[in-house]
Amino acid sequence: MGPGRLTCALVLALMLAMGSRPQEQLPRESHNLNWSKFSGFWYILAVASEGQRFLPGRDRRKLGASMVEVHKVGQLKVVLAFSRSQGCQSHTLILRKDRKKAMFRNTCAYEGPEPGEKDLGGVEGFHVLSTDYSYGVVYVRLGRAGRTSKTLLLFSRQNTSSFPSMKKFVDICEILELANGVTVLPKDASCAHTILP
Ligand SMILES: *[C@@H]1O[C@H](CO)[C@@H](O)[C@H](O)[C@H]1NC(C)=O
Ligand SMILES: *[C@@H]1O[C@H](CO)[C@@H](O)[C@H](O)[C@H]1NC(C)=O
Repeated sequence: MGPGRLTCALVLALMLAMGSRPQEQLPRESHNLNWSKFSGFWYILAVASEGQRFLPGRDRRKLGASMVEVHKVGQLKVVLAFSRSQGCQSHTLILRKDRKKAMFRNTCAYEGPEPGEKDLGGVEGFHVLSTDYSYGVVYVRLGRAGRTSKTLLLFSRQNTSSFPSMKKFVDICEILELANGVTVLPKDASCAHTILP
């Protein structure tokens, strides 16, 4: 049993213990996640989503990117850049720290698209489900109330993935029933680098 499978089994065991169905209960990010350490520039190497509207046609796909900043006390600023059918687009989210849980939520703090940005339709929450700070499996829900789609992103500090990080990503996709929607993005960093400082 490899470490990926072991984690998968543990998460499933936790879900069963909590008596909820897998698609409704997510693994929670670790309570001791160090957000400062998680900050900075990330490539997005793979995407898994219920809705394919997030991705452009095959010939236009490129690596995505994210810039994560601890903005001020209790606030996280997350910029996401993706190549979409309309071209390379970035989105900025401001998330607030939950008072009780070790996570950031997008409550009423969504600022909407900045000039030149495309509205993603709102992003609810930003959950790091697994990380060793060289990779991260990040869960976001995109869309508006009632019409959201779950999306899982594979973050990496490098433009190539390691086998264990990809395995972890795929394992979590399976738990979230997103395994059919996994897309590994082609190694073209031209869009990703648009959000480098
Ligand atoms: C969190 O990470 C930062 C940056 O790597 C480090 O300076 C800090 O000591 C860490 N905090 C804890 C509580 O580990
Ligand atoms: C990936 O990163 C390496 C090291 O930073 C760089 O040499 C290489 O050109 C990059 N590849 C792409 C496709 O951006």
